Amino acid sequence: MDMSCVLQDASTVAVVCMQWGDTGKGKIVDWLTSFWADIIARGTGGANAGHTIKLGEEEYVFHLIPSGILHDCEGKINVIGTGVAFDPKIACEELNLLEKKGISHNQLMISFQAKLVLPFHLALDRLLESNASEGKIGTTGKGIGPAYEDHYARIGLVVNDLLNPDVLAEKIGKNLERKMPYFRQADLSLIEEILHHPDLGSGKFYQPGGYFDLSAIVDQYREYGEFLQSMIRDTDAYMEGMSGRKKILLEGAQGNLLSIDHGTYPYVTSSDCTVYGLARGVGLTSSRIDLVLGVMKAFYMTRVGKGPFPTELGGIKSEEWCNYAGWASKEREAEIYSEAGVNDANEFLQGVGIRKRGDEYGRTTGRPRRTGWLDLPLMRYSRMFTGNCVILTKLDVLDECERVRVCYAYEYTGPDYHVGRIKLRNGHMIGVAIPDPEVMRHCRPIYRIFEGWKTSTSSIVCSSQLPLQVKKLIAYIEQELSVRVVMVSVGAGRDQNIIRD
Ligand code: IMP
Ligand code: MG
Repeated sequence: MDMSCVLQDASTVAVVCMQWGDTGKGKIVDWLTSFWADIIARGTGGANAGHTIKLGEEEYVFHLIPSGILHDCEGKINVIGTGVAFDPKIACEELNLLEKKGISHNQLMISFQAKLVLPFHLALDRLLESNASEGKIGTTGKGIGPAYEDHYARIGLVVNDLLNPDVLAEKIGKNLERKMPYFRQADLSLIEEILHHPDLGSGKFYQPGGYFDLSAIVDQYREYGEFLQSMIRDTDAYMEGMSGRKKILLEGAQGNLLSIDHGTYPYVTSSDCTVYGLARGVGLTSSRIDLVLGVMKAFYMTRVGKGPFPTELGGIKSEEWCNYAGWASKEREAEIYSEAGVNDANEFLQGVGIRKRGDEYGRTTGRPRRTGWLDLPLMRYSRMFTGNCVILTKLDVLDECERVRVCYAYEYTGPDYHVGRIKLRNGHMIGVAIPDPEVMRHCRPIYRIFEGWKTSTSSIVCSSQLPLQVKKLIAYIEQELSVRVVMVSVGAGRDQNIIRD
């Protein structure tokens, strides 16, 4: 069963990350768009995502616009669905950038019911995260959590409100009223600082002593509405009409393990980024999806922000360093850890080495991504949401590794703990991860060690040329997860893909 057979009979395909995001879905979506998809739709998340696409020497990073946009001129339709937390500022910036580069976006559609992100959401997100108390998530600060909170509290705005100035002004006013108790409790200088950040208009919305300049916000949002008006549509109706008739590609954001419903809660994002949330977010039922392609990195994982990560290289030291706001960055690491490499005997430094080699720095926040070995207990859990077709990405990152470790089970090392009918005790073996931080933080990973392949894979074009060690690892993962690896990506370039036959 090769990739063309896999795609042949499919009308709707979803590309979803099986890990904590950043597995290279953007590249896969761009590639599938080039020869397969007619419509590319996003249904979850917002500008917290960062999808990177390399085209020749040029690298494009989109946060909100679907990764199929580079094919707009070929008549492909890109859709931002109802489930997306839509920040019009970011959308306008991305569209302006496309215009500057001469890339068309004439076919972009934005759901009139997408959830509207407001400056208050960004401010609140940042206020909560800057609070030094326990319980920080390490969010991207893009207002995602507060925007979805408003939606579920039934006080949110939708994109259509941008088009009706009076309704817009009234709803924004009411929304702020509901939030004022939070802002009144906060440190005024902190609010002032947050509101002067470029993401919040560099002080444009700040009113000394009065927190928010409501009329400045309303004016700005009206302007966004004028700019975006021609793109705003009933995308649910459109998708329903096209389903089964056109080739639809659903572009996941984040990953299964960050899903609000199925991820490592509470260290998750605020939308259901599994295929179920994705389908719902574009107005389809998941039964309409013919094929789900689950994406994971070969053979490591990354995580941005806080939360348990049993196979993390360097453990707590890595978590602390990567979340050391304002300090840890790509440039800083290049400087102070210039020697760290993928074979470093020190685990923390080996993690830095893999990060540098894989360019694992957040595209949205610039934070170093925590790195660790592939965790099969987590993947066995995650597999429940994607099925049996897997794409492996970034194989070339571990090319120089002497040894590759794969975690195949955990040993539970914590106090007695109830999980439903099961009582976990010290020494209990776990094969399928239990996504509860009380359990996860006491899981000691047990590894199987594989010889590395120690040869460059980035110019390999067919699967028979893959090094024996890589074939062994793929076979191992296929067996352990009961999946079929249909494709392996070996570099950021559009064509650096190996289709397995
Ligand atoms: P939020 O989505 O900004 O609320 O952040 C919640 C958590 O999800 C944080 O740990 C973020 O680092 C993480 N997160 C959100 N979006 C992404 C993404 O696109 N890639 C990786 N992590 C993400
Ligand atoms: Mg990303």
